[in-house]
Amino acid sequence: MTLFEPRPRTRRVCLLSGGGDAPGVNAVVRGFVHGAHRHGIEVLGSQYGFEGLLDPKGLQPLSIEHVRGILPKGGCILGCSTRCNPFFVPEVHGATTVDRGPAIIDRLKSVGVEGLVLIGGDGTALAAERFTTLGMDCISIPKTIDNDLAQTDVSCGFDSAVETASHAVDALHSTAEAHARVMVLEVMGRNAGLIALHAGVAGGADVILIPEIPYRLDRILVKIRAREALGRRFSIVVVAEGARPCASDVLEVEAGRPGHLPRLGGAGARLLHELEASDLDHEVRLTVLGHLQRGGSPSAFDRILGTQMGTFAADLCRDGMYGRRVVVQAGRLTSIPLKADVAPHKQVDVEGALVRAARLVGIDFGDTAE
Ligand code: F6P
Repeated sequence: MTLFEPRPRTRRVCLLSGGGDAPGVNAVVRGFVHGAHRHGIEVLGSQYGFEGLLDPKGLQPLSIEHVRGILPKGGCILGCSTRCNPFFVPEVHGATTVDRGPAIIDRLKSVGVEGLVLIGGDGTALAAERFTTLGMDCISIPKTIDNDLAQTDVSCGFDSAVETASHAVDALHSTAEAHARVMVLEVMGRNAGLIALHAGVAGGADVILIPEIPYRLDRILVKIRAREALGRRFSIVVVAEGARPCASDVLEVEAGRPGHLPRLGGAGARLLHELEASDLDHEVRLTVLGHLQRGGSPSAFDRILGTQMGTFAADLCRDGMYGRRVVVQAGRLTSIPLKADVAPHKQVDVEGALVRAARLVGIDFGDTAE
């Protein structure tokens, strides 16, 4: 290069993980940073999700050095936050919110960012669409333990969460049997019962209660008594946080507000009280698995998936293929337009093969009279 030739401008992208963490996010970050590095693209990491886009010190360079040794680590080295929706930022004094989207884009452009890569669930994917509409090129990568994103067969974090939840079912079996108790295990999954279904089948639960199939207490009691008649004096009930009896609503521990979903909780406690108030001759105990499902070292599957998704997204950046959503469809890693013309959410297919198999091995969904 001679002195007068223009120096090639370094390409720069910003990476963030929106919403809550999920096991395997670090594998995505690592895969992306390695891929981008090979393609000569600089990466800025946004600290604590969308908060980093609003904080003057929130964008930090991410190099190969930063991602060394992070593959087995839970959490996310960038930090996560569910408190910030950039399009609904509360004003300092007052009850109103402001849309900081345009200001964020100006800032990203002013520091030479050509594209924003967002790892996250439904809220983050929506943010990617919104930023794109406002003029920032985006790519989204699916991450949610709930696995409720419709466009992808699987999202990063789901496998690890199911592993944790099914180990919990295993562990509850022995103590349930020793005490002849009914054990209720509440698991996460918001509006999709996929964690409950998969963990319940893997752990051999007796009853699985999911948002997609409102339950009736009398059906559950029939199941528990039928087991008793067979000499099985204990039962395991896995209940998704979004499960509800036929005549009641989902329980919230915190109401939604602009740009934020309500926080669910209490489904297990409600069932515990219902069972205790019944004429069942069993002690009942409740375990709420909560954030244990999001924490800890990711499964091998999520590490592999995250590595593939991260490097794939880096390839999309190299090729200038923005406006894409990384997905797994029919077992193949691919990308689709960000604005996919399909329903955003996936739920349990109540007529599907796994529910059918579960029923065939005797698992009750609170809707079957035996
Ligand atoms: O969406 C993932 C998820 O883990 C849900 O299953 C759960 O309802 C929610 O996040 C919990 O969020 P928080 O970390 O804000 O309590």
